[in-house]
Amino acid sequence: MRIDIVTIFPEFFSVLDVSLIGKARQSGLIELAVHDLRDSTHDRHRTVDDTPYGGGAGMVMKPEPWGEALDGILQADDPGAGSSSVVIFPSPAGEPFTQAIARELALAPHLVFGCGRYEGIDQRVVEHTKTRATVREISLGDYVLNGGEVAAMAMIEAIGRLVPGMVGNPESLTEESHEAGLLEYPSYTKPSVWRDLDVPPVLLSGNHGAIATWRHEQQLERTRRVRPDLLSE
Ligand code: ADE
Repeated sequence: MRIDIVTIFPEFFSVLDVSLIGKARQSGLIELAVHDLRDSTHDRHRTVDDTPYGGGAGMVMKPEPWGEALDGILQADDPGAGSSSVVIFPSPAGEPFTQAIARELALAPHLVFGCGRYEGIDQRVVEHTKTRATVREISLGDYVLNGGEVAAMAMIEAIGRLVPGMVGNPESLTEESHEAGLLEYPSYTKPSVWRDLDVPPVLLSGNHGAIATWRHEQQLERTRRVRPDLLSE
């Protein structure tokens, strides 16, 4: 998978050199490039924003640098096969990010993250990008961040670990929270007694059927208590 990120804060993404994503980059499974949006400006001040048409608070990101930056990134696509790129604009006004979306995007050969700042990007950039790629406007959740960078990073981590060939133990992916529409069961390790707290005895019983039943009950109880909305869907 290839990932391109467009941002005015390229240094944000230096953490992607470490951890699982860092390993995937070293092994060649994920090829990742970060592009400074200001490299696609042509004025002395490297301006990326301007006041909003129609008035209102804040600044809006200008379309021209975005157009030029995306031209360079999307041109590299195979022109014969139609675009296989998915361009993601993180935005609090987008569709909510879910494990299902992460799973879907993990199969795409090329992801581009366009990280907006201020009050967002001129909407024509989104409309124009739809003429040459699949576009998704995606929100991390119902709260407002200062820009798309942290949202892009969270999505890259969630997507990256699902890329085929990524994690050593595929079972750890299917048994975790959200994979079956339920939250994960609680986990324990040694010692069996810690500060007078026992590990649930069923986990020490060696009875695999009983353990599976207990874990499923825990998943249901936890989901009912913390996220009843997941059960009503
Ligand atoms: N940019 C600002 N807020 C955001 C959010 N909640 N999700 C994605 N991108 C954002």
